[in-house]
Amino acid sequence: MKDYRASHLDPETARRYDEEIYRTGGYDEWVDAIEGRLLNSVVDRYFPSRPFSYLDFACGTGRVMARIAPRAATAVGVDVSKAMLDRARDRVPRATLVLGDIAAEPSLLDRRFDLITSFRFLVNAQPDMRRDTLRRLGEVLLPDGLLVCNVHANRYSARLLSEPARIARLVERRNALSLRAATAALHDANLVVRDVTGYAFVSRSLYQLLGRGMAEAAEARLHALRPLCHFGTHLLLVCERRNRTGGRRRSRSRPGQPAAHAARCLHPRRAAACSTLAAAVASVVATSGSDRRAAPREALRGSPYVRP
Ligand SMILES: C[S@@+](CC[C@H](N)C(=O)[O-])C[C@H]1O[C@@H](n2cnc3c(N)ncnc32)[C@H](O)[C@@H]1O
Repeated sequence: MKDYRASHLDPETARRYDEEIYRTGGYDEWVDAIEGRLLNSVVDRYFPSRPFSYLDFACGTGRVMARIAPRAATAVGVDVSKAMLDRARDRVPRATLVLGDIAAEPSLLDRRFDLITSFRFLVNAQPDMRRDTLRRLGEVLLPDGLLVCNVHANRYSARLLSEPARIARLVERRNALSLRAATAALHDANLVVRDVTGYAFVSRSLYQLLGRGMAEAAEARLHALRPLCHFGTHLLLVCERRNRTGGRRRSRSRPGQPAAHAARCLHPRRAAACSTLAAAVASVVATSGSDRRAAPREALRGSPYVRP
């Protein structure tokens, strides 16, 4: 397995990341917009008024940081790639950007944070680096802090049926991570997953077929189906530190909000069976979205999919 530290060192890779992968109008830019809404709703919910210190680990070109840094009291980004950080500097001019590897040099971070994010890292990082970096992140998270990370290639997602080539990848066990494996890695770092939100139910190929408007409507409907929440192509995980006895911290949900549902780790075989069912439901719902009618607002109340 390649060392993920070396994956984005080249300036051309950094350029492609921003200008090709996240090009305006593309699928990834659409998913980025979804992530932006989800992240804003996490900040609204957990840090409604108090100032918070923020760290984005493996911040890359500042894509995620740029969403949150303006709302934070202080913002720090860490990455091993100078080429990626050079681009981040333009996006988040007031943030402190640190070049280095926190697993190899723990002293790079000499303070603790209220909120830590890490996106597009867990799936591709080799297991020992994932373990060491998560442990360090667990250490620099304040006792009441949150770590919000994503799994950008969920092994048991609803996409399995719509893109059969993925089933082969599933067998090879490459380029994907299950919720169970992610939860175990976080647990090893003294972190507990408190909330799981699936997103990007609409696959790249379906997005191209439907176009952005219909993809948005289908995504909103799928997002509203709670039983599907573990089967998004991407998963957003909201984690907190385990307390000393290993239990969960008290919920910080505001009154009137639905109680946060804890991650239930399914056995991989059961999850695979469920994802087959989920994919069937997904395709029916996606098809029913093709009449271009917007999803009923009532059903989407509280969802970040409601357009502003
Ligand atoms: C796919 S990019 C994601 C960038 C950003 N988080 C985002 O979601 O757009 C992965 C980033 O992880 C960085 N990376 C890989 N291993 C790392 C490590 N051990 N410490 C810090 N950054 C690392 C890479 O340099 C790269 O910028």
